[in-house]
Amino acid sequence: SVNANDGAVPDSLVIVSNREPYSHERTDDGEIRVQSAAGGLTSALDPVMQSRGGTWVAWGSGDADMDVATNGVVEVPPSDPAYDLKRVPLSDEAVQGYYYGYANQVLWPLCHEDTGRMWAEPAYWEQYRAVNGQFAEAVDAVADVGQPVWFQDYHLGLAPRLLRERRPEAMLLQFWHIPWPAPSVFRHCPHSDALLDGLLACDVIGFHTAGYAEQFLHCVDSAFSAATIDTDAGTVTRNDERTRVVANPLGIDVEGVRDRARTADVGSIRDTVLGGSRSDTSIRLALGVERLDYSKGIPERIEALAHLWDRRPDLRGEFTYVQKASRTREGIAAYRRYRADVVDAVERVNDRFGTDDWQPIVYTEATLDNETLAGLYRAAEVMVVTPHRDGMNLVAHEYPVACVDGDGALVLSELAGAATHLDGALTVNPHDIEAIADTIERALKLEKSDRADRLARLQQSAEALDSSQWVARQFSPGQSP
Ligand code: F6P
Repeated sequence: SVNANDGAVPDSLVIVSNREPYSHERTDDGEIRVQSAAGGLTSALDPVMQSRGGTWVAWGSGDADMDVATNGVVEVPPSDPAYDLKRVPLSDEAVQGYYYGYANQVLWPLCHEDTGRMWAEPAYWEQYRAVNGQFAEAVDAVADVGQPVWFQDYHLGLAPRLLRERRPEAMLLQFWHIPWPAPSVFRHCPHSDALLDGLLACDVIGFHTAGYAEQFLHCVDSAFSAATIDTDAGTVTRNDERTRVVANPLGIDVEGVRDRARTADVGSIRDTVLGGSRSDTSIRLALGVERLDYSKGIPERIEALAHLWDRRPDLRGEFTYVQKASRTREGIAAYRRYRADVVDAVERVNDRFGTDDWQPIVYTEATLDNETLAGLYRAAEVMVVTPHRDGMNLVAHEYPVACVDGDGALVLSELAGAATHLDGALTVNPHDIEAIADTIERALKLEKSDRADRLARLQQSAEALDSSQWVARQFSPGQSP
């Protein structure tokens, strides 16, 4: 919950993000239904906006968003209006170039250090600039004098500079939710200087880890010889502008996840998810939960599981892996191919090891509500989170918190931001298939006391990063969690 007395949080603010916290969808029978976004960003910022008020500016991507708004503005949450949501309408061409193009085919692979997947069509950059301009204009139209403006994520790298040109005095902030790459990788970007310049219009830039913040400072250092960088203080001074660059890890709503896990009907969730597969309680479960994104390391994990069932026949029929996968960014061929590869890999493993009454991998793309997800975490003895690279990964925070029975082990990629912050995980190189197999096996046979001790440490570290403090930290840089 938000501490309303926390002096660091301004009385009112403007949040700017690509995705909106609430969207309006038209159902088949013509009704308008409000959907609340489930991700980490909304769960951290919506409570603050509800207690402080202000405006949230976002792309109006719901099919009925504009119908319910006046001048693009609607009050939210609908049940108890507390702040304004200003929708920025984007044309199909803009969405193609800005979202599917520049954000997700240039910046996403770049920042996840997967430059072979970058595709920088000139039109992508044009649309990215134009849409960032549209966001800056929308903010300029709604922000009161003195209201801080906080941009979220890699979709909005240029908007701070474009707004600064209109608002020289405003307090501007950015939080970059994905990794920041090393200078040797960042230089692959054809627009690297413009992006750094766009971000340096901010007073504060936040990253999930000190490592990303340092790499950002190194990139500024290589790009701008006239910039003065104080690495210890985390500041850049350039053209009379001073920017603080801080590590401000985002966590989860700990109480919310724990409550949902407590009330979840674990038995029936287990039965529903295991469905056709044998669902008796003796089956041991491991779980993976992710978007079908090529940064998530799902094929390596499936290959590792195949190794495990191969060399440990005793685990066949006894140990099942559940993969909850969400389709994502399917306007991009690489994502469609990735999904097809994952589905193929699952089928191959199931054909090889499956029996009449046991399926090794249960794969589901079903949309699960947060309560079902919490119940699934609780049912899983081992959680496997093995991205090649990940800004933070909040699933790794949610799992231990949901293990309210005091039992559970986390296998975690050492290249996820969460590995910097969570103590007690079994860490692994996400490309090392044999090591992933060994680590899952180790998780399955951890001594009870070791498991309990590791879980307690995981829970403590997730609690220490509870999302309620994140906003205050961004506004009073220098405070560490
Ligand atoms: O990790 C970055 C991020 O933007 C998250 O905030 C979000 O959960 C995820 O990617 C979803 O991506 P998209 O908005 O493209 O569906």
